[in-house]
Amino acid sequence: MRKTGKHFALLCALFLLTAVITLTGCAGSAAKKDKATIGIIQIVEHPSLNTIRESLLAELEAGGYKDGENITVDYQNAQGDPSNLKAISQKFVANKYDAIIAIATPSAQAVVGETKEIPVIFSACTDPVGSGLVKSLEAPGGNVTGTSDAVSAEKIMSLALQLTPEIKTVGALYNAGETNSVSVINDLKGFAAANGLAVVEATVANTSEVQQAVTSLAGKVDAIFIPIDNTVASAMPVVAQAAIKAKVPVYVGADSMVADGGLATYGINYVSLGKETAKMVIQVLEGKKPGDIPVLTIEDVEIYINEKTAQELGVEIPEEIKAQAKML
Ligand code: TRP
Repeated sequence: MRKTGKHFALLCALFLLTAVITLTGCAGSAAKKDKATIGIIQIVEHPSLNTIRESLLAELEAGGYKDGENITVDYQNAQGDPSNLKAISQKFVANKYDAIIAIATPSAQAVVGETKEIPVIFSACTDPVGSGLVKSLEAPGGNVTGTSDAVSAEKIMSLALQLTPEIKTVGALYNAGETNSVSVINDLKGFAAANGLAVVEATVANTSEVQQAVTSLAGKVDAIFIPIDNTVASAMPVVAQAAIKAKVPVYVGADSMVADGGLATYGINYVSLGKETAKMVIQVLEGKKPGDIPVLTIEDVEIYINEKTAQELGVEIPEEIKAQAKML
C-alpha cells in the first residue's frame, strides 16, 4: 500500500511538472508571437505588380522579416478574375492572418469589403479615396492604410504634346470597372477640354477585349492615352503592336507599359513604392494601427520613353527631353 502511495505522489509531481513546462512554454511563444502570418493578394500577373511584390518582399527581408523563417507569407493571385478576388479575401480573413497586403485597387477593394479588423496595407492604389478604400489620405482611420501611385494626366499629356504636337483627338483606353483608371480619365477629360482636344473613349471589361478595342480606336485618333489600368497593362504587348502598326503613339501611366512597347510616360518608380509599402507592413507588425499611418503617395516622377517604339513611329525625341528621361 505504502509503495503505491509513493508511486502515486511521484506521478502527480511528474504530471504537475509537465503541465507547468507546457503552460509556460505556450505562454512564452504567444507573448513573443515570433511567426506572423501575412496574406498577399494580387489581382493579376503583369510586370509592374510583380515588381511591387518582389520589392516588397525584399524590403521585408531587409527589415528582418523573412518568409519561412519568422513570417509566413501566403501569396495568392486572382488571375484577373473578380470572383477569385472575393474567394481569396474570404479565405485570408477566415485564416485570421495578422496582416493582408493588397496589390492594386481591385484586390484592395475586395479585401476591405471582407474585414474591418485585420490590418490591410494596400499597394499602388491610384485613387484610394475615390476607390472607397479610405476616407482620408492623412488620417485613414480603421484597419486600412497603404501607398498610392497617383499620376498626373496633365503631366503625361503635356509630354505627349511635346513629343507629338499634332494631337487633336486623343483616345482613352481603359477598363471602366477599375476605379483607379476612372479618376485619371476624368483628369484627362479636364485637360482635353482646357486645351481644345477631343477625347474618344474605348472601354474594355477584360483583357480579351483589348485587341479589338485598340484596333478600332487607333483608326479614330491621333494618340492613345492609357491610365494605370491593370486590364490593359496585362495586354500591353498586344496594344503596342496594334498601335505601332497604325502609327499611333501610345502614352501610358506606368513605366512597365513603356517597357512593353508604349511610347512614353511620366511615372513613378514601383521598386520604391514596394519598399515604402513594406515599411508600413513592418510598422503594423510591430503594433502600429493602420488607421494611424497616413497613406503615402509616391511623389517622385520621371519620364520614361521607349526608344524602339519612337523609332518605329518616326518620333524624334528632343535632346533636352532625352537628357532627363529614362530611355527603355
Ligand atoms: N495603380 C493600379 C491600381 O490602382 C495598380 C498598378 C500598379 C498598375 N502599377 C501598374 C496598373 C502598372 C497598370 C500598370 O490598381
